[in-house]
Amino acid sequence: MPADFLAEPYKIKMVEPIRMTSREEREGLIKEAGYNMFFLRAEDVYIDLLTDSGTSAMSQEQWAAMMLGDEAYAGSRSFYRLKDAVESITGYPYVLPAHQGRAAEKIVMDILVREGMVIPGNMHFDTTRAHMQLRGGKPLDLIVPEGLDPTSSHPFKGNIDLEKLENALNIHGKEKVPFILITITCNNNGGQPASLGNIKSAGEISRRYGVPLFFDIARFAENCFFIHMREEGYGQKTVREIAREIFACGDGCMMSSKKDGLVNMGGFMAFNDRPLHEQACQLSIINEGFPTYGGMAGRDMDALARGLEDVLELSYLQFRIGQVAYLARLLREAGVPIVEPSGGHAVYIDGRRFLPHIPQEQFPAQVISVALYIEGGIRTLELGSIAFAEKDEKTGAYSYPQLDLLRLAIPRRVYTNSHMEYVASHVIDLYKRREDLKGLKMVYQPSVARHFTCRMEFL
Ligand SMILES: Cc1ncc(COP(=O)(O)O)c(C=O)c1O
Repeated sequence: MPADFLAEPYKIKMVEPIRMTSREEREGLIKEAGYNMFFLRAEDVYIDLLTDSGTSAMSQEQWAAMMLGDEAYAGSRSFYRLKDAVESITGYPYVLPAHQGRAAEKIVMDILVREGMVIPGNMHFDTTRAHMQLRGGKPLDLIVPEGLDPTSSHPFKGNIDLEKLENALNIHGKEKVPFILITITCNNNGGQPASLGNIKSAGEISRRYGVPLFFDIARFAENCFFIHMREEGYGQKTVREIAREIFACGDGCMMSSKKDGLVNMGGFMAFNDRPLHEQACQLSIINEGFPTYGGMAGRDMDALARGLEDVLELSYLQFRIGQVAYLARLLREAGVPIVEPSGGHAVYIDGRRFLPHIPQEQFPAQVISVALYIEGGIRTLELGSIAFAEKDEKTGAYSYPQLDLLRLAIPRRVYTNSHMEYVASHVIDLYKRREDLKGLKMVYQPSVARHFTCRMEFL
């Protein structure tokens, strides 16, 4: 066993059975689903790596906290426990719950983004980007070049390009840039972290130009752990201290707590600025609910308050990041082409390098996804030629993204290392007989977000 191998830092108290179907059953089920993973029933999946969002297992402390949930409409104890937890981590005193991350995004964008504005960031998440665009704003992705190179082993591929950030501020000025948004970790390039050095410099630029700096903190604890492990000068600091240093560089944050909140639903915003919080509260009242619950049940706010404590425990993070790295290592050692280095929440297989004989218009990453389901009952998510193809409205032709990736997202505290070995063995077997795999064609697709509801057939 390798010296850095870590076993699960928990034992199992309650079990949820998972059902193994036969290969024949799965061939029928996936065909019926139009070869689209979103149309499979969860009960027909053995290992579900579709997403890490809202799929965490809660701790005994979180379940116990739920029993203390205070369901008062206004001023519940649960809200104040959540507010205290958020404030103690971020230092931001004005906290507003929301039912999930995108609801928080909508409130912030509705207040701050106007037609023609530009919002620079490392790489905005899809719903964040959509809310900016709905308000007439232009999202600007200013990730460092290494962040887009799947073979680069740069330790902080989630960094924002500081030169490009200054350029954007010089060109557009304070009036056209409502805020800067840094997403930690950066989901859209594989859960890659931003360094504290980079965040501090971005904070300094934001103050110099008088433009606020916000964070999208869906996976902030994973980002802090990477800083602790990889950045010089932070190995002796606790993850909580690192988090405080990050938040001190900015003015507010939005969170989808379905990730590092270790809960199945929820979100929040937190700000330094009282007037901004007041405006957000007004919008919350008509969209989400009274500001002391904002779309969340009291018991769920209690589970989140406790989840925010659990997620900062070093033993939790060591295992969490170690488990993702373990799966990546098993694949790498067998020669499977993956995005390097593995990020915080997922391992990404490079579809084009895995299946060079299948052109992008035949969806190589999706072919791997379908084969993994048929062979092992494993559900994964294509993030490539299906999800990110762009249609030319005049010609109807599609242009495909540079990367055709298959994401193996690891839910938090759900699967054991032996599940990872099971997954790896199926990926490796498939890689050995990759020449046998054939491409897919699209037979139905909607006009927006086609990956959720499209249907395919084998060629
Ligand atoms: C970085 C990031 N921001 C925002 C969101 C949106 O959060 P939610 O799914 O809770 O609406 C997600 C969801 O995956 C995300 O990864």
